[in-house]
Amino acid sequence: YPGAADYVPRTHDLDAMRDAAGRCHGCDLYRDATQTVFGEGSPDAGTVLIGEQPGNDEDLDGHPFVGPAGHLLDRALDDIGVDRATLYLTNAVKHFRFVQRGKRRIHQQPRRTEIVACTPWLTAELDLVAPELVICLGAIATQSVLGAKAKVTELRGRTVELEHFRVGATVHPSSVLRATDRKQAYAEFVDDLTRLFEPG
Ligand code: URA
Ligand code: SF4
Repeated sequence: YPGAADYVPRTHDLDAMRDAAGRCHGCDLYRDATQTVFGEGSPDAGTVLIGEQPGNDEDLDGHPFVGPAGHLLDRALDDIGVDRATLYLTNAVKHFRFVQRGKRRIHQQPRRTEIVACTPWLTAELDLVAPELVICLGAIATQSVLGAKAKVTELRGRTVELEHFRVGATVHPSSVLRATDRKQAYAEFVDDLTRLFEPG
């Protein structure tokens, strides 16, 4: 994989950046996916939320967090009184990775090589938005910001200082949807978010 670096323009214009990402062939994932799903939100946001990759709905729609995981995230943000419009939402990987099973497209975790290939876009977004706080949703986001060894279970609900921002982690909203005890998982997710959004 050549990676995304050659496709990232030298610009601080978010729309120009998004445009360029729409033409990225930095890894093979663009071949089967419908479109690039770039980050979205306020370029002045103080907080960036990072997911894993677009899901089926996001791939078809072109916008991040519009499917079931996005709805759960919206509900949680609502519960803690955070307005989604004040945030910047993106994903570690910008194309949907899936396998076709009949008519259904089943989500596949991105490979390490694909996460690495896509990181220049995430870096460019963090550079451009320059947030104070970065919240990683799930293992893939956490690893793409903090390295392959970072563990959500050890980090969740806490923040650590990096050079340019504080970074914290919690589980991915899809894992809440899959949990055996959904109510409990949701409560823990909201609890993590509450602590992460506390001024640090
Ligand atoms: N899951 C993610 O990680 N990101 C999305 O945009 C949607 C679902
Ligand atoms: Fe480019 Fe990322 Fe899409 Fe791969 S997943 S083609 S690196 S935007």
